[in-house]
Amino acid sequence: MQILDGKALSKKIELQVTEEVKLLKEKCGCTPGLAVVLVGQDPASAAYVNMKKKACDRAGFYSITHDMPESISQEAIEKTIIMMNNDTNIDGILIQLPLPSQIDTTKILELVSPEKDVDGFHPFNVGRLVTNLDGFVPCTPLGVMELFKEYNIDVKGKNCVVIGASNIVGKPMASLLLNADATVEICHIFTDDLKRHTLNADVILVGVGVINLITEDMVKDGVIVIDIGVSRTAEGKLVGDVDFENVSKKSSYITPSPGGVGPMTIAMLLSNTLKAAKINAQKLKDQAKDAK
Ligand code: GUN
Repeated sequence: MQILDGKALSKKIELQVTEEVKLLKEKCGCTPGLAVVLVGQDPASAAYVNMKKKACDRAGFYSITHDMPESISQEAIEKTIIMMNNDTNIDGILIQLPLPSQIDTTKILELVSPEKDVDGFHPFNVGRLVTNLDGFVPCTPLGVMELFKEYNIDVKGKNCVVIGASNIVGKPMASLLLNADATVEICHIFTDDLKRHTLNADVILVGVGVINLITEDMVKDGVIVIDIGVSRTAEGKLVGDVDFENVSKKSSYITPSPGGVGPMTIAMLLSNTLKAAKINAQKLKDQAKDAK
């Protein structure tokens, strides 16, 4: 059994991004900028945003967080997004989800300029991912694919079972695997007899926030297990969706949770924001050339 070490790989990627940021600054005086919208007081969302902000600081990005009260109106968030869309110091915009129930999340995500959509949640980028075109890909599933690359795991032809069908993780994860020529099944809350699917899986990717959902009797020998879930136990300990202690004994590769996919999500946010900044820098250069 080998651990897929997301902590180590995310550090490596962060260092690469930091180096590229230095070069970009030297070359064109550009500093990648990320704007985050955080609505309400949810401690988990606040903690995620704080980690993202700290990573931006370490990489040399400019970053700004728009903290908004739980009672905020749709119009006020939309105004902020329009402002960020037009701000040339901002290359990436991230709306921390979930938003409060009075807010139309779909409308908010559709208002973010697709060129600044570093979370890959805009339908434009979703469509590009599904059709296997370049665009912005959601950070968590992108981080999983980076882990596969780092450990030379080729999913081509493998039976991959994705558990969870969210727009943030499950659906884009399935698209990325399909684009990499895997055979993909998506299981979700209404799936009958989950074990029947997982027992047949070469790769299990699970992110639903149910503690110990995947147990050793549900997996075959040599399985690759990617645990995307994070929950807190009654004792306050962070754990994933997989019974790591027992499932790891039957696995060829496995991610711990926490410390596996989580740090990769943040590394991919840096990488996506750098990608947006490079595209914007090139655009500004082309515009300056055209103006001459
Ligand atoms: N909420 C939970 N996960 C995520 C994520 O990856 N991005 C954003 N924006 N919100 C989230």
